[in-house]
Amino acid sequence: MPSQKTRSVDYHEALRDIAKSLVRLKRPERLLKMITRYIDRELGLTHAAILVYEPERSRYTIFDSKGIRKIPRSLIKFDQDYPLIRWFSSKDKETESLRQYLSKQKIREILSNGVAAKLKPETKAELSRVQRSLNDLRADIAIPGFFKDSLIGILLLGEKLSRRLFTRTEIHFFETLVHDAAIAVKTSEYHQHLIERNLELEVRKKQLEERLHEIERLRKKEQSTYYEIMKSLAQEVHAKDPYTFGHIHQVERLGVMTAEELGLDLSGKRKDVLSAGLLLHDVGKVGIPDNVLKKPGGLDREEWKIMRQHVEKGVKILEPLSDFKEVAEIVWCHHENYDGSGYPRGLKGEAIPIEARIVSVVDAFHAIVSTRCYREGRPVEVAFQELRRCAGTQFDPKVVEAFIRAMKKRPKRG
Ligand SMILES: [Fe+2]
Repeated sequence: MPSQKTRSVDYHEALRDIAKSLVRLKRPERLLKMITRYIDRELGLTHAAILVYEPERSRYTIFDSKGIRKIPRSLIKFDQDYPLIRWFSSKDKETESLRQYLSKQKIREILSNGVAAKLKPETKAELSRVQRSLNDLRADIAIPGFFKDSLIGILLLGEKLSRRLFTRTEIHFFETLVHDAAIAVKTSEYHQHLIERNLELEVRKKQLEERLHEIERLRKKEQSTYYEIMKSLAQEVHAKDPYTFGHIHQVERLGVMTAEELGLDLSGKRKDVLSAGLLLHDVGKVGIPDNVLKKPGGLDREEWKIMRQHVEKGVKILEPLSDFKEVAEIVWCHHENYDGSGYPRGLKGEAIPIEARIVSVVDAFHAIVSTRCYREGRPVEVAFQELRRCAGTQFDPKVVEAFIRAMKKRPKRG
C-alpha cells in the first residue's frame, strides 16, 4: 500500500522521464500501465485509473486501476452516453473552458456560485450528472486526453492520502502527462497497425506463393500424366510394327550411351530431354494409316509423302506440353540429314540439334539390324559399315563414331 508521501515531487523531471519512456515504449498498454504505476508510487492517492477508448467496440473501459481504492477494471465499461464521456466529447462552445479537466471541487464551486447562473439549465443538469459519475468512479479529478479533437481516454485520480487538494502545478503536470500519453497511444496504435498490416501482407504473399506452387505442382502432374500417355502411344506405334516391338527402350539406352560417349552435358533436365526425344521421336506414326506403316518392302512416292507426315504429327501431339518444347524440336528434326538433304526443313550440320542427330543414327542402326517380315535383320558389323558409309551425308560423322565406340564398349550379352 502506498505510504502518504511527504517528499515533494519534481514534476518537470518526472515529465521528462516519462516522456522518454513514452517514446521508447511501443505498446500502448505498457505506456498506460507505466503511468498508473508511476502515479500510485510517487503521489500517494487513494487510486488512479485510466479509461481508454476501444474503437472496435465504440466504448470506453477502465484499462488500469491502482491504489487502495482501485476500481475492478473488468466491471466498468462506458458508452458514449455516460455523463463523463459525453461531457468531454461535447463540442459545445459554452462549456469549452470546462473540458480541460474537471474536479469535484471545481464542479461544486461552479454549481454553488454565480457562474452557474450564466449556464443553461441543461448544462447545469449535465454537470450534476458528471459529479455523480465522479463519485461512482471514486475520482476527485478527471483529466481528458485528446488526439485531434477525439477523446482517447480519461485519467481518473482519487483523493490524496494526505487529504490535501491538488495544486495548480500538479494539475498542470497531469494535463501534460495525459496529453503526451494520448499522442503516444495514437502513435503506437499507428505503429501496431503498420506492423499488423505488414504481417498481413506477408501472410498474403505466402498464400499466393503456396497457390502458385500448387498450380505449378498440378501443371507438372498434368504434364507428367500426358507424358505417360505419350509414352504408351509411342509403345503402341512400335507394337504396330512388330520389328521394333520392345526395342524402344533399347533405342533410348543406346542414344544416352552415345551422348555420354560424345561427352555431352546431361546434367539437370538435359538427360530427360534426350530420353524423351529418343522414346517419342516416332510418336506421330499413330496418325499414319496401317496400310502405309505396315507395308512390306518399299513405299511408292505418294506413300512416302504420307509416311513423312509422322514428323509434323509428332510435333502436334507434343504441342500442349509447354515443358516439352525441346523434345518437340528433337522430334521435328529427327529426319533431317547432316548434309541438308533431309526433311521436313532441310536443316544442315550443327543447325540440327545434337539430340536429333543422335536419334537419327540410333534409329537407322535399329532399322538395319532388326528382322522385318520381308527380310532378316543384318549383322551389327554391316550396320556399322552402312552408318559409316552415310557419315557426312545422312549422319553426323562424330555421332556415328561415338555410337560405334559406345556399342563396342557395351558388355556382350549372354
Ligand atoms: Fe521417324
